[in-house]
Amino acid sequence: MMTASWGGLGWLWNKPVAYVFIRPERYTHKFTEGNDRMTLSFYDEKYRKALQLCGTKSGRDLDKIAATGLTPLKLESGAMTFAEARLTLDCKKLFKSPMKEEYFIDNNVYGRWYNDKPGGSLHDIYIVDIEAVYTI
Ligand SMILES: Cc1cc2nc3c(=O)[nH]c(=O)nc-3n(C[C@H](O)[C@H](O)[C@H](O)COP(=O)(O)O)c2cc1C
Repeated sequence: MMTASWGGLGWLWNKPVAYVFIRPERYTHKFTEGNDRMTLSFYDEKYRKALQLCGTKSGRDLDKIAATGLTPLKLESGAMTFAEARLTLDCKKLFKSPMKEEYFIDNNVYGRWYNDKPGGSLHDIYIVDIEAVYTI
């Protein structure tokens, strides 16, 4: 359960996909690795504080569900989202790859975001199949 803003949506391998970038040191990474599915959920402005907490505190140190007051909701697939989400994408993992320094074509990007490790290590890239979409 973490806030993520880097990523996007697209069309790949004849499927609707999302791609996300998760640093291996995130507690959440254990779950993106240990499960076949992940959910991407989107919230109205009034949940900004909850998203701020989920983006600055680690699940290693506190119970984010209790701290945010968000309401866990199980989807048909068995994956979890939160009742407050205005949009949830229920996704199945298709592809994962670590980023590597030698893959960067523009070294300015590597230098700006990774060389001096301002936010942590190189991301893992996940491409996931959007199997179901839920809105409220
Ligand atoms: C607005 C915002 C966007 C973020 N986007 C990402 C992201 O795309 N990928 C990532 O690995 N971390 C991102 N983070 C950082 C994680 O959300 C943060 O490290 C979080 O505390 C990880 O929680 P966890 O250790 O419980 O997994 C973002 C943080 C914020 C505040």
